[in-house]
Amino acid sequence: MTGVASLAQQVEQAVGTAIGAVLPERRDADPLIRRSDRPGVDVQSNAALSLAGAAHRSPAQLAGRLVEQLTANPGGLSATVSVAGPGFLNVTFTDAALWGQVAARLADDRLGVGTPQAGVRTVVDYPSVNVAKQLHVGHLRSTVIGDALVRVLGFLGAEVIRENHLGDWGTQFGMLIQYLLEHPEAPWQHERLAAGTTAVAALDELYRVARAAFDADPAFAGRARTRVVALQSGDPDTLAVWRQIVAESQHAFQQVFDRLGLLLTEADAAGESRYNDALPGVVDELVRQEIAVPSAGALCVFDPAFTGRDGAPVPLIVRKSDGGFGYAATDLATIRDRVGRLHADRVLYVVDARQALHFRQVFAAARRAGWLPDTVDVEHIAFGTVLGADGRPFRTRDGGTALLTDLLDAAVRSARRVVQAKNPAMPGTEADRIAELCGIAAVKYADLATSRQQDYRFDPDRMVAFTGNTGVYLLYAHTRVAAILRRAADPAKLADAPALDPAVPVSAAERALVLALDGFGAVAAEVGESLEPHRLCGYLYELARAFTAFYESCPVLGAAEPVRTNRLALCDLARRTLAQGLSLLGLPAPDRL
Ligand code: ARG
Repeated sequence: MTGVASLAQQVEQAVGTAIGAVLPERRDADPLIRRSDRPGVDVQSNAALSLAGAAHRSPAQLAGRLVEQLTANPGGLSATVSVAGPGFLNVTFTDAALWGQVAARLADDRLGVGTPQAGVRTVVDYPSVNVAKQLHVGHLRSTVIGDALVRVLGFLGAEVIRENHLGDWGTQFGMLIQYLLEHPEAPWQHERLAAGTTAVAALDELYRVARAAFDADPAFAGRARTRVVALQSGDPDTLAVWRQIVAESQHAFQQVFDRLGLLLTEADAAGESRYNDALPGVVDELVRQEIAVPSAGALCVFDPAFTGRDGAPVPLIVRKSDGGFGYAATDLATIRDRVGRLHADRVLYVVDARQALHFRQVFAAARRAGWLPDTVDVEHIAFGTVLGADGRPFRTRDGGTALLTDLLDAAVRSARRVVQAKNPAMPGTEADRIAELCGIAAVKYADLATSRQQDYRFDPDRMVAFTGNTGVYLLYAHTRVAAILRRAADPAKLADAPALDPAVPVSAAERALVLALDGFGAVAAEVGESLEPHRLCGYLYELARAFTAFYESCPVLGAAEPVRTNRLALCDLARRTLAQGLSLLGLPAPDRL
């Protein structure tokens, strides 16, 4: 284990040792440590209840023996331990142990977070958007959740590889390229050069007009199909236009990614086109292994594990009847590459829940083909839908697909109203800056704080509220702690491990705050396992509330020494833990707003 052991881990260790002494044959039993909600009790162990049978004793007797052991041999544990109820072990840390923990955490850069994911090579596939269209509401969750997971796993020691599996290949490029070649005067051609958001709006427009021509004009449709063949056979002029379209889209995406404060860069692009040459080999190999079989002119994988409502197996189409390769073939080639070339131990696909069946089928086929050994863990990190106020999938007023930038703008406008109301004298440019920061943070937090699988309503006014479990509440909680530290006489002193006085009595609010801080490493590790960022959001919200309760009942700057120093240290640790937690979610932690 790296870093500082949490108080909970210390109890776990000590109770584990005591179990080993009292009941050697069960020395590996889980000490079953839980936070306690009884007044005056910090944590409890339920081990005696589960082990009593094996010990041929009553739970209370076994608990009594464990208490004797712990009292005689406390190890590093500084706490009072007693038996309660039918055989719980109640643990209450000494005040000195609590201050000691604060000091130890302040001296640890990682604030008590270990590196349980050390060395795990993890590919995160996100947001994997289709080019030649603008980012829309459907891309919010993949970008925000994907980025948070990249940050959390990276902090836990994983070797994270971001892959933006762009949808940059396929028959739709035939019509786009053909249209551009036939309309060199199209506005798109000129606006593109100006860069900026107009370029991508123009791309959307290109998509619309090319599609319209394709549907209305059979001759154009024919030329577009020929253009697909030219693209696939590597015709240089065709490829040049294709490259332009992809590059323009990427620039436009990157502007939004940057506005969202993502880690993603253009260098993370690993589009579908990259796998084009590998597709025939992938399909041949599936056929050779008799995993893919002919079916109505196509080549499909059938697996009895995946059946439709009629009980018939649902095919995974790897080659269509027109000879083209589909999404599934590309994903199979991609898995083979991620395992073979990138040596991934774990691959996470942060994709809409509606693609669940696709991924289950692809993963199963890859396992059968031997491209995905059992040692490699692949997971579809599915998420629910962003809904409008009416509880239906989010749409613009005229029923169209809402652009991601429009959602962000709406949140920033709501934040602007809140900021202005709170501080009417603030200069407009400053209010704009803060509104942008709060609005974006609010959208990201609201998304992350909802349990991943659930749908949620996009409600900008609620997201930017100062109270409740919102990003804005957390940002302001951070500024409040930062302000106290700023006003402290000698902030430089905080940089060195402050000399805490362990003899200062700990009040109830201080105790609750220290215990909340103690849980940070466990919750971070839990998010690394469950890949559910909302657990970290819930934790930070509780931490901010514990801080508020502490601050309301314990004066800091006005307290006499040595209490003042101890409380300032607690503030410092709270600020750093909040800031680190926010950064794991991809949120800023400004000192003032
Ligand atoms: N481009 C796809 C879409 O827009 C998502 C790709 C997800 N990643 C993957 N490896 N299939 O639906």
